[in-house]
Amino acid sequence: MLRYWTAGESHGKALIALVDGFPAGVTIDTDAIDVELRRRQGGYGRGGRQRIETDKVDIRTGIWKGATLGSPIALEVINRDYKLERLDDLSRPRPGHGDLTGAMKYLGSIRGVLERASARETAVRVAAGALAKQLLAEFDITVFGYVAELGGEVIEPVEGTLEELRAIRDKSEIYGLNLDRDAAIKELIDKTGKEGDTLGGVLEVRVEGVPFGLGTHAQWDTKLDGRLAQAVMAVQAIKGVEIGLGFEAARRPGSQVHDPIHYDKSRRKGPTLGYERPTNNAGGIEAGMTNGQPIVIRAAKKPISTLAKPLASVNIETKESEEASYERSDVCAVSAASVIIEAVVAFEVARALIDKFGGDSLMEMQARYKMFLEMAAEK
Ligand SMILES: Cc1cc2nc3c(=O)[nH]c(=O)nc-3n(C[C@H](O)[C@H](O)[C@H](O)COP(=O)(O)O)c2cc1C
Repeated sequence: MLRYWTAGESHGKALIALVDGFPAGVTIDTDAIDVELRRRQGGYGRGGRQRIETDKVDIRTGIWKGATLGSPIALEVINRDYKLERLDDLSRPRPGHGDLTGAMKYLGSIRGVLERASARETAVRVAAGALAKQLLAEFDITVFGYVAELGGEVIEPVEGTLEELRAIRDKSEIYGLNLDRDAAIKELIDKTGKEGDTLGGVLEVRVEGVPFGLGTHAQWDTKLDGRLAQAVMAVQAIKGVEIGLGFEAARRPGSQVHDPIHYDKSRRKGPTLGYERPTNNAGGIEAGMTNGQPIVIRAAKKPISTLAKPLASVNIETKESEEASYERSDVCAVSAASVIIEAVVAFEVARALIDKFGGDSLMEMQARYKMFLEMAAEK
C-alpha cells in the first residue's frame, strides 16, 4: 500500500515526507519535483516568505542510480529561514487558525500549534505528489490543476488541448486558464491587500488517462471518491470538495445528471474500453471506482486567516479583548493551493493504481495493467 507521512515545523530546520510502498524501478527526475515546489511558492498575492525560501528537494533514501528501490523514500526540504528557537509565543489567537483550539487542547503554547498547522508543511506533500506523478506518467495518466475562481470571480477556461491549457496555466500569474482575466484578478488581489483583507477561491483538478476500476465499491475506506475527498479536505484552508457536478447534482433531475453509456468498438483498447460517455457529470467515478472518464475534482479554499487589519480576539494571558496577532502572511494563496491539490490528488490516484495492479515493481505493474486492459476489452 502506498502511503506517506510528513514531519516538520514551519520555521523548523526542515520538512520531511516519508513515502512508503512506492514501487521499484521508477526513474526519478528530481528537477521535476523542484519545478512543482517552485510553482507552490509562486502565484500572485504571496507574502515575503516565498521570496526567502527557494525550495529544493533532497531525496535522502530509497533511490539508487536515479531509480526507486521499492524501499521507503525520505524527501527533505530544508527551511532556509530556520529560526524556531528564536521565536516567541503568541498570546492573541488568530481567528480561523488552530491557535486557540490547539493551545487549549494541548495545554500548551500557540506557537507549538501554529508551527505545525501552517501550510508550509504542504511543501513536502507537493514533493510526495510530484513523485506520484512520475509513476502515473509511466501509465500516461496526467494530473492537471488550476484556479477556477478567485475572490468570487469565475475564470472561464479557454478551449484547448491539455498541452495548450498547461502552457496557458504556466504563463498565468494566477494559474488560471484564461490569460485575459489575469490583470483584473491581480488588481482585485492588490486592492484587497491594501484594505488589510484576504481572498479565497476554487481550485479544479482533472486527471486524464485513468483506466477503469481504480478504487472499490466494496468498503467505505477504499472508495476512491472518499479517499480523494479526505486527501483534498485535509489540505490547510480547504472547506469544501466536489467531484464532477458536486452540489449542482442535487439541484437537477436525474436525467440531467447521470452520464449515458455508448459503445465504440474502435476505442475498446484504450482506458475507456470503448464505453464512451457524452457527458462526465460523475467526474469519472461511479460507486467509488473510476469509469474510464477523466476524474474531475473541485476544492473551495477559504481566504487566508491572518489579516493585516486583525479581527477581534482575546489575550489568553489577561483574558482582555485585544486584536488578533499578525504574523507575516499571504493575501492570497489560491494559486499555490491548486498545486497542492494537484499533488494530493496525484498521490491518491497512484495509491489506487498500486492497489489494483500491485506495487512491487513498475515492470510488474505495467504487465498487469496491459493484461487487465486486454482482458477487459474482450469481456
Ligand atoms: C498554500 C497555502 C498558504 C497559506 N498561507 C497562509 C498564510 O500566509 N497565512 C495564514 O494565516 N494562513 C495561511 N494559510 C491557511 C492556514 O494554513 C490555515 O487556514 C490554518 O492552518 C487553519 O486550518 P484550516 O483553515 O484548515 O482550518 C495557507 C494555506 C495554504 C493552502
